[in-house]
Amino acid sequence: MAVSANANDAGRRRTWLIGAALLIGIATSAGAADHPNPAEVAQLVHARQDHFHALGKATKSLREQIGRANPDWALVASDANQIERLAAALPTWFPAGSGRGHGIKTKARAKIWAQPQAFASAAKTLSTRAQDLAQIVASHDPRALRLSARALGQACGSCHHQFRAHSSWW
Ligand code: HEC
Repeated sequence: MAVSANANDAGRRRTWLIGAALLIGIATSAGAADHPNPAEVAQLVHARQDHFHALGKATKSLREQIGRANPDWALVASDANQIERLAAALPTWFPAGSGRGHGIKTKARAKIWAQPQAFASAAKTLSTRAQDLAQIVASHDPRALRLSARALGQACGSCHHQFRAHSSWW
């Protein structure tokens, strides 16, 4: 009786030790990732996605106005200014270590950091077109505005094609 009870105790202890070793292993590998603090990564990624949603909203609002016979030019101007401001800030939304592999869902492809010059150039194209758009608004010329908005949309699409994944991965 006593012997088998000791054997059970030993077995339980072994199971516990293996469990503890696994936990320590998991904690160590998470700490060894190139960005040390997952909470910080989450904050960076979520802030970036918030900025993009604001950019998407302003672009959609602009497109709606462009489709109208009598656009609300004050609204168009405020959308264009917001797009210009966000586009200028875009390169700062991608600090090193804010990509995939940290348990945070993001569509940002590793290529953003592997090919920084190509990414910077895609961001620059957007920013230049957003500046053009903001200037054209003052002319109140619907045709020029349409062309400019189309060029802007192409800059969004071109970067997404190269640097944004189709689905969010951890
Ligand atoms: C220089 C590259 C680049 C440009 C230019 C760009 N985007 Fe994006 N966009 C991205 C990346 C990368 C993500 C994914 C971010 C993430 O998940 O962390 C993204 C995400 C988004 C999202 C969030 C929803 C989703 O599918 O992840 C919206 C909305 C969006 N972009 C709209 C736009 C619009 C509108 C423009 C143009 C006015 C634009 N973007 C220009 C790279 C770009």
